[in-house]
Amino acid sequence: MQQIIVDRIDQVAEDVVSLVLRGASGPLAPWEPGAHIDVALPNWLTRQYSLCGDTADRETYRIAIRYDPLSRGGSEYIHRFLRRGRGLEVSLPRNHFALEPAPEYLFLAGGIGITPLLPMMRAALASAVPASLVYLGRSLATMPFTEELRSSFGDRVRIVPTKQQGRPDLGTLGPGLDSGALVYCCGPASMLAAAQDAFPAGRLRAERFHPVARAFAPNTEFEAALARSGRTVRVPADESLLEALAHAGRPVQAGCREGVCGSCELTVLDGEPEHRDDIGAPAGRMYACVSRARSARLVLDL
Ligand code: FES
Repeated sequence: MQQIIVDRIDQVAEDVVSLVLRGASGPLAPWEPGAHIDVALPNWLTRQYSLCGDTADRETYRIAIRYDPLSRGGSEYIHRFLRRGRGLEVSLPRNHFALEPAPEYLFLAGGIGITPLLPMMRAALASAVPASLVYLGRSLATMPFTEELRSSFGDRVRIVPTKQQGRPDLGTLGPGLDSGALVYCCGPASMLAAAQDAFPAGRLRAERFHPVARAFAPNTEFEAALARSGRTVRVPADESLLEALAHAGRPVQAGCREGVCGSCELTVLDGEPEHRDDIGAPAGRMYACVSRARSARLVLDL
């Protein structure tokens, strides 16, 4: 974890604040476009936010948070109670939405989904790779960073307030692109669905706010053997691995608890996990908040 001080809080759109977080004791860990951090809030909640500042700035991170009326306490705390000067802990940056090399990029942002795409756009153009950004939001007043985008990227950015202009047909954006172009999309589920209809899966990279609804086989009980401590933890059918570990006195870090952020990643030494996350677990890893086991026993590096 890294200690930071909240250096600035700015209202950057209706219901959206941006925070500038300054390292409390020197430079912060480096990051790449698409990365996010876990922010441990004083109300005991941990939330994930994409970094949307300048990757070259090692003194500060910038994040932006939309107030969610259905907030489980994260955005509400930040909007109502967090003040400048407050010290917090944040994780090292983690990146499940990295910018892969391509001859051209199309970035599709919906609302607060602009946050990971803003540094991607900056990085693409800094490398002289053609890139354009289509940014949708209900109205200009609800869309953060529009002025910054216009001044930095000019006519490479198309800002679409959908209440006035309607939603563009994403299918019309594909034909002019290089055949190797990659499309990065971050926004609400409806936008991701439209992007999936408009672009082949091999060209689309998407980051979700929430998991896709999917059906899984009924939960079964399994054992988690903790290789470092020699303990074995029973994971009943009505508990997640994350919960069972916490109940056994071996809690692991967690954020979203929905299989989208990666905070609860564990190393699997033996056994076959049943992956239920939306990240795409690398070989030998699993996400304890949602994933379970196909084998009767998993051996974990804990
Ligand atoms: S807590 Fe976010 S993936 Fe498990």
